[in-house]
Amino acid sequence: MHPQTLLSLTLLPSLSTAAETVLGLYIFSRHGDRTSKSTPPTVLTELGYSEIFSSGTWFRDQYIANGSTSQIHGIEPDIVKQSQIAASAPLDDVLMPSCLGFLQGLYPPVGPTLGQQTLRNGTVVQVPLNGYQIIPVGTVTSGTGSEDSAWLQGSGNCANAIVSSNNYFASPEYTMLENSTMGFYTSLQPVVNSTIPANQTNFKNAYAVFDYINVAEIHNTTIPSSSILTNDTLLQIRTLADTHEYNLAYNASDPIRAMTGATLAAQIVQALNTTVAGAGKTPINIQFGAYGGFQSFFGLANLTQANPDFYGVPDYASTMTFELFTNAAPSPFPAPEDLGVRFLFHNGTTGNNSVPVAYPLFGQSNTTLSWFDFVSGMNKFAVGRQSAWCEACGNSTGVCASTTTSASGSSASGGSGSSSGGISKAVAGVIGAIVTLAVILGVEAIIMMIAGLRVVRKNKLAAGARQGNIAPKA
Ligand SMILES: *[C@@H]1O[C@H](CO)[C@@H](O)[C@H](O)[C@H]1NC(C)=O
Ligand SMILES: *[C@@H]1O[C@H](CO)[C@@H](O)[C@H](O)[C@H]1NC(C)=O
Ligand SMILES: *[C@@H]1O[C@H](CO)[C@@H](O)[C@H](O)[C@H]1NC(C)=O
Ligand SMILES: *[C@@H]1O[C@H](CO)[C@@H](O)[C@H](O)[C@H]1NC(C)=O
Ligand SMILES: *[C@@H]1O[C@H](CO)[C@@H](O)[C@H](O)[C@H]1NC(C)=O
Ligand SMILES: *[C@@H]1O[C@H](CO)[C@@H](O)[C@H](O)[C@H]1NC(C)=O
Ligand SMILES: *[C@@H]1O[C@H](CO)[C@@H](O)[C@H](O)[C@H]1NC(C)=O
Ligand SMILES: *[C@@H]1O[C@H](CO)[C@@H](O)[C@H](O)[C@H]1NC(C)=O
Ligand SMILES: *[C@@H]1O[C@H](CO)[C@@H](O)[C@H](O)[C@H]1NC(C)=O
Ligand SMILES: *[C@@H]1O[C@H](CO)[C@@H](O)[C@H](O)[C@H]1NC(C)=O
Ligand SMILES: *[C@@H]1O[C@H](CO)[C@@H](O)[C@H](O)[C@H]1NC(C)=O
Ligand SMILES: *[C@@H]1O[C@H](CO)[C@@H](O)[C@H](O)[C@H]1NC(C)=O
Repeated sequence: MHPQTLLSLTLLPSLSTAAETVLGLYIFSRHGDRTSKSTPPTVLTELGYSEIFSSGTWFRDQYIANGSTSQIHGIEPDIVKQSQIAASAPLDDVLMPSCLGFLQGLYPPVGPTLGQQTLRNGTVVQVPLNGYQIIPVGTVTSGTGSEDSAWLQGSGNCANAIVSSNNYFASPEYTMLENSTMGFYTSLQPVVNSTIPANQTNFKNAYAVFDYINVAEIHNTTIPSSSILTNDTLLQIRTLADTHEYNLAYNASDPIRAMTGATLAAQIVQALNTTVAGAGKTPINIQFGAYGGFQSFFGLANLTQANPDFYGVPDYASTMTFELFTNAAPSPFPAPEDLGVRFLFHNGTTGNNSVPVAYPLFGQSNTTLSWFDFVSGMNKFAVGRQSAWCEACGNSTGVCASTTTSASGSSASGGSGSSSGGISKAVAGVIGAIVTLAVILGVEAIIMMIAGLRVVRKNKLAAGARQGNIAPKA
């Protein structure tokens, strides 16, 4: 039984009485508390480490440990079995350490008894650090450096998505808000002036301003003119940033803007399908990424319909979880028609007092979907093929130059992303971050594109040396 589902608005009593077994999990997590993007390099803080470790511990207690509520069928409860877990994160000082911290919570040190080995000659070897377990994490080039950038567009380097996001800055909605909030932002200047100049303290930089003040509210004991920051003011700073970021990540009438969410959706299906196709071989897939990927997916999956909170930027250590489960006998691995999927979200650090809640996907009302309905719902917006990506993005050079003949079959490997059908890692560059940085600096669009091209090239070089699937960046 799922305690989370008890919280769900749309829980059906009949479901809670069925004998349910969880067979697989896909988790997409935001990093823990970090330093401000306005004071790079941005790093994970001690608080962030403990937040993410707390989340990992909760997931262990829920899905892995003996006696847990929803122990995954066949999961190794104590000593990690590497083949059962696929973890990946961009290589940086925030998301990568967060992923490692989460895994420490998931599979903590096993102690002296389990953490030892007897050699042929009888010598007993103790594992260091009380049986610490080492879990490899795949690096993804997408999102690399994202936590050092003030604004994350979250669209990879998809040409049409960049154009679409930038269109927001030309929309009447944006212009009106920028104008009407000018006085509000000016009033914040005494708080931020040591770092953010007056001509950048405006709605155009709503996230950077929010981020700087949010970090200060957590860490700075001597915020200048802190009396300005009443609860109402703080809420307004956050809400303006929410609006700004959501509109850059998703637009209902311009779906290309949400390319990050579309590629994420494809990865989620691929990851769960790896569990299905492998009959449970790799039941856990964990990815770390930034909030832009969340927001873009929220829009595409119509989660804003389920709860308007989904318009907001998710807090640190937030998680999206997809449970693959069955109500049939879990062994042998059930047929696809006996599989279901449930989406759960938790805003911020998960712990025993605050746990993920199930929400209905795709604007319908059932928090559980059959595997087939889930796949077809996701595939309405998922983009998982190089050729489809290139076509939708309007890209025809670089990795897209060779994709005129469409690759057949989508990658089911989930963990590699290097097959012919999958989106290459080079596609998931960091241009989004560059774009915004450029916006902040007041640089023209042409220059952003040039900067983006350079970044992509660097990523391509790196991609050759790395394994791991692309993570939607943001
Ligand atoms: C967990 O359960 C398995 C299977 O029943 C058992 O072999 C193992 O010893 C248990 N581990 C702990 C720590 O109780
Ligand atoms: C047993 O083998 C290990 C590893 O080769 C070695 O370090 C250790 O000294 C050996 N112990 C004895 C008693 O030979
Ligand atoms: C901005 O707001 C002022 C009033 O506060 C108004 O006079 C002006 O026309 C507005 N400009 C735009 C571009 O909306
Ligand atoms: C920031 O604003 C405060 C209050 O207006 C002022 O005293 C201070 O000199 C300013 N600091 C900078 C670096 O501009
Ligand atoms: C913390 O407050 C001090 C003023 O006491 C200010 O100079 C500094 O920039 C602030 N740092 C952050 C990260 O807010
Ligand atoms: C502001 O919010 C904080 C945290 O939610 C709360 O503890 C405090 O009482 C609030 N202050 C006022 C004046 O409402
Ligand atoms: C998460 O919490 C923040 C406030 O802490 C809120 O602004 C945002 O809308 C929430 N997001 C979701 C998806 O619940
Ligand atoms: C979201 O769900 C609502 C209610 O079911 C529906 O009217 C709307 O068309 C959906 N929007 C999208 C983008 O799917
Ligand atoms: C919700 O979905 C599950 C799984 O597909 C199904 O068994 C159940 O009947 C559905 N409930 C409703 C009200 O559609
Ligand atoms: C799952 O993987 C299998 C094996 O690679 C493939 O045939 C099937 O089409 C995939 N299904 C989905 C929904 O991606
Ligand atoms: C797609 O096009 C944009 C704009 O021309 C470019 O910046 C980006 O690098 C291209 N992406 C790829 C993967 O070729
Ligand atoms: C902001 O002002 C500084 C100097 O005061 C100037 O160098 C910079 O170009 C301005 N930036 C924008 C975006 O206007």
